[in-house]
Amino acid sequence: MRSGKFITLEGIDGAGKSTQLAWIVQLLQRVDCATVVTREPGGTPLGEQLRVLLLDKSITMHPETEALLMFAARREHLDKVILPALTLGQWVISDRFSDASFAYQGGGRGVNIQKLAILEQWTQDSVQPDLTLYFDVPVELGQQRVSQIKNADRFEQEQSDFFQRVRVAYRDRARQFPHRIKIIDSSLPLNEVKAAVEKILLNILKHG
Ligand code: TYD
Repeated sequence: MRSGKFITLEGIDGAGKSTQLAWIVQLLQRVDCATVVTREPGGTPLGEQLRVLLLDKSITMHPETEALLMFAARREHLDKVILPALTLGQWVISDRFSDASFAYQGGGRGVNIQKLAILEQWTQDSVQPDLTLYFDVPVELGQQRVSQIKNADRFEQEQSDFFQRVRVAYRDRARQFPHRIKIIDSSLPLNEVKAAVEKILLNILKHG
């Protein structure tokens, strides 16, 4: 068995992560990688309860409270799911991780980036994904896709200027960590997005 990698998927709401996730897992399983699929906020019993609170639009909270809850869920997620799986040599595919906190709480809500960096260091030490696939779409397209599929949650109900800031923060982060974060143009037709993802995954499978 290959030694596992930690892969995260990121993007604004409606960027198409979920569609890609299903077949990324299929591709890895086809080549015999043991995979653990998980998500943030969530992935553990406590994290899933925090997720319910974080996505509930009847609840208001200070942006820093929101950031703290995201990192609290993440601490639990690392301890109970991510690190044990990696230790066993499994591949961990997480629908979002800490780049989302920098994008949504940092960019979107304006939480101080230095404070987020302290939380990141505190929560993760040196643990970072081996690869982050950032699905980039124009805000209008993301919002259009979300409105077609579901009732908006506490984040999805935000206005387009919020998502513009989230997108800018994601792109800044991708520029800051170009070796880890790969930008995928998710406004392209599905098969082209899939081909771009496949190329990156085959490369990591080949070269580690
Ligand atoms: P998402 O993963 O997109 O799930 P769904 O596809 O079911 O809507 O939703 C989670 C929301 O949480 C998303 O709007 C982004 C937000 N989020 C943050 O604001 N900060 C974070 O650190 C994480 C992990 C998520």
